[in-house]
Amino acid sequence: MYLNFWGLKEKPFENTPDPRFLYCSLQHEEALSRLLYVVRERKGAGMLTGVFGCGKTLLAHTLLRELGSDIYRIALINNPKLSHIELLMDIALKLGASNLPARKTDVLTNLLLDSINEILQDNLKDGKETVIIIDEAHVIKDEDVWDELRLLLNFQLEDKFLLSLLLLGQPELRKIIEANKPLLQRITIKSRLESLSETDTSFYILHRLKIAGREKEIFTKGTIPLIHKQSGGIPRRINQICDMALFAGFGKKAKSIDEKIIQEVMKGLEE
Ligand SMILES: Nc1ncnc2c1ncn2[C@@H]1O[C@H](COP(=O)(O)OP(=O)(O)OP(=O)(O)O)[C@@H](O)[C@H]1O
Ligand SMILES: [Mg+2]
Repeated sequence: MYLNFWGLKEKPFENTPDPRFLYCSLQHEEALSRLLYVVRERKGAGMLTGVFGCGKTLLAHTLLRELGSDIYRIALINNPKLSHIELLMDIALKLGASNLPARKTDVLTNLLLDSINEILQDNLKDGKETVIIIDEAHVIKDEDVWDELRLLLNFQLEDKFLLSLLLLGQPELRKIIEANKPLLQRITIKSRLESLSETDTSFYILHRLKIAGREKEIFTKGTIPLIHKQSGGIPRRINQICDMALFAGFGKKAKSIDEKIIQEVMKGLEE
């Protein structure tokens, strides 16, 4: 493996949502602070959209870490392609419900809502805040599921919401929500992530290398425009190219990664 060769403690370009590696570009920082604002100021619901691979799931995991478990009880739903009953069940279980019946009947919907409401009231009594984060929310096509999510937001006291709901998804999520006026009205904060600029791509690469234990540059200046163009500024693709480049450079015993290595890697990725 190339770790020793490049003086790294761990792999710098893994496609995993590890908050330690978060590079806070202006847009990531703004998106994160808006999501935190929805939760900390009890604004009800917030939405984050962005193209695939731009950092939404990573921000969800960063939120979990930022909010911590002392005060916040958080249900992170990763795969919301569920029926409304399954979704409510998943939320209830992740918020700590126990003794839920397994049979999916309509009676169960009310039972689940009662159970979630009970958890919300208990959390309130204990001074805990409840947060539901739905990642990949754009895959929800079932109107019943959207209705249940909207109804969850009706759990509120006169002066504040009993839970915060964060919806994360690809750009089509925005259209889905815009077509759902009652839900749209409840979403107080919206933000979006775009691809990284060339300058941010350069800082992004440096940042991830530094977290992985390498202070000195590895990628020459000339590689940045190539990586940016090939990746479209999408972090997941930047990771892929940079990881392959480190591997190729290691094979050649190179001192740094230059344009030639990047071009070879790009050819390899296209094949
Ligand atoms: N700002 C960032 N700093 C560091 N790494 C990032 C950043 N944004 C994205 N990444 C990395 O890029 C990869 C893809 O990010 P992520 O999975 O969060 O994208 P996504 O927006 O959820 O994509 P999808 O819509 O396909 O689910 C992850 O491995 C993540 O670590
Ligand atoms: Mg994701």
